[in-house]
Amino acid sequence: MQPHPSSDDRPTTPSTSEPDPVVVARLRAAGCVFAEDEAVLLAAEVDGRADAATELEHLVARRVAGEPLEQVLGWAEFAGLRIVVEPGVFVPRRRTELLAAEATRLASAVSGRPAVVVDLCCGAGAIGAAVAAGVAAAGGRVELVAADVDPAAVRAARRNLEPIGGLVVEGDLFDPLPEEIRERVDVLAVNAPYVPTAEIGLMPPEARDHEAHVALDGGDDGLDVHRRVAASAAQWLAPGGHLLIETSRGQAARTTALVEAGGLEARVLRDDELAATVVVGRRR
Ligand SMILES: C[S@@+](CC[C@H](N)C(=O)[O-])C[C@H]1O[C@@H](n2cnc3c(N)ncnc32)[C@H](O)[C@@H]1O
Repeated sequence: MQPHPSSDDRPTTPSTSEPDPVVVARLRAAGCVFAEDEAVLLAAEVDGRADAATELEHLVARRVAGEPLEQVLGWAEFAGLRIVVEPGVFVPRRRTELLAAEATRLASAVSGRPAVVVDLCCGAGAIGAAVAAGVAAAGGRVELVAADVDPAAVRAARRNLEPIGGLVVEGDLFDPLPEEIRERVDVLAVNAPYVPTAEIGLMPPEARDHEAHVALDGGDDGLDVHRRVAASAAQWLAPGGHLLIETSRGQAARTTALVEAGGLEARVLRDDELAATVVVGRRR
């Protein structure tokens, strides 16, 4: 088992207590690179429960069978927040923190009214949650809408975003967005699928076997969803509003061209440490 890409070569949370050596040995034998840390996290999840031993056995068995750690725990850490994730739902990746940070910066610059923020292809809603928290920390407010086509993702996003006042809608791309935010969106944050179909088979089993195909598959060149988002974004952005699309280093030039073809000024942001690339478009 490889470390899940969401873990980006580190456990979800640094551990402090002593792990159970038997659990560690089982996790290590199954290929978990951070077996000690995972054992601590799994034990913490059942701590204090009357059926702790049985439940821990259940969680360890799921992990040993190859389920992503975050789906087994039921949460992932993203931008310092705990994001609820459910089986089958895309686990937020650390690299997406670059997009969330830039979206937060842009939304925080809106003054005198709440920034209108859309988390499109929201999955569990990690980006929306991070932007809302970041803008609030900077003293601002957001009107947050999140959308996804996958009912399981929408369910998870509702658990993360409704308690903070976000609206989560289900449907294909822009279709389910409320009409009243048309041409009013300050920040349109999009981490859509961008893996070329033929490369899905090369992904770690944790992703290809445990995350929905619709969360990964970007079509022949990986850019099918980017193409559709870029073509319609200007109809939803406020003047001066921004579109942010996560992409890969190799696809960045083509994502940029799509954003420019959609009538936006584009620039590319990179963070080598996070292995992250984001194309930022601005409506003139
Ligand atoms: C790579 S995952 C990212 C999820 C989330 N943005 C994140 O960063 O954690 C892509 C998401 O796009 C959703 N998606 C794919 N095609 C879509 C479409 N046509 N309309 C809306 N959502 C879509 C998938 O269901 C999945 O949740």
